[in-house]
Amino acid sequence: MAFFIFILLLSLSSAMACDRCVHRSKVAYYSSPSAIPAGACGYGSMALAFNGGYVAATSSALYREGIGCGACFQIRCTDWTVCSKGGSQIIVTDLNYDNHTEFVLSGAAFFGMARKGMKQQLKKIGVAVVEYKRVPCDYKNKNLSVMVEESSQYPYYLAVKFVYQGGQTDIVAVDVAQVGSSNWRYMTRNHGAIWDTNRVPQGALQFRLVVTGGYDGKWIWAQSVLPADWTKGAVYDSGVQIHDIAQEGCSPCDSEDWHS
Ligand SMILES: *[C@@H]1O[C@H](CO)[C@@H](O)[C@H](O)[C@H]1NC(C)=O
Ligand SMILES: *[C@@H]1O[C@H](CO)[C@@H](O)[C@H](O)[C@H]1NC(C)=O
Repeated sequence: MAFFIFILLLSLSSAMACDRCVHRSKVAYYSSPSAIPAGACGYGSMALAFNGGYVAATSSALYREGIGCGACFQIRCTDWTVCSKGGSQIIVTDLNYDNHTEFVLSGAAFFGMARKGMKQQLKKIGVAVVEYKRVPCDYKNKNLSVMVEESSQYPYYLAVKFVYQGGQTDIVAVDVAQVGSSNWRYMTRNHGAIWDTNRVPQGALQFRLVVTGGYDGKWIWAQSVLPADWTKGAVYDSGVQIHDIAQEGCSPCDSEDWHS
């Protein structure tokens, strides 16, 4: 199968454009080992497999009504006797409703911030002061994929979520059409990472997405994704991946690679 990426770039240059703005805040963690923050985005149990369990719930400011689902952040606590310089890299999979901390991390992600032998000390700190920055998501050996939700009703109602979203951008619009047709129909964000429509085109389906962030926007075209007999619960490879890195505005821009 052949796939194409159709690019529409609107570049506005800015003196303050930066792809790694550093922010300061606090994080807590889920103390139950089995608790994974996987509710609001709709990833369910898939979330655990995303990133070795390094996942997090974010404040509503970063969740952005679901746009922030799937974004990746590097987070490090700043008590350097206890915390490593590299910190943990997490994927946003949930909304933290209480607003007391910017992130609530899975246990793996929280204790992943500790220096060697310092997990007990970090546990005593509990709510940690952190620095964090958005980073590109890197799904090695995975393309952007489409999972058909259980709520779909073939062939009338289609709900999908996008998983393994690479790069450092946001999916802000989704259209669907029959393969080979230019009769695009928009999908609506239902919640989290889930998009739906009850005007489902017939046959095999293609998607086009608008991804943006900061000063850039572009179309990603996945020319053939769902077969005509798409089924609930199945995950379909889109054949494309997002590698773009969006810029934010901040100054000074962090020039350091965070590693232990
Ligand atoms: C958290 O912040 C959001 C947005 O500012 C607000 O709508 C919500 O009510 C807050 N939640 C709590 C529990 O304070
Ligand atoms: C990603 O899609 C390309 C086609 O564009 C395909 O050749 C490749 O095998 C896919 N990669 C994976 C890991 O599925």
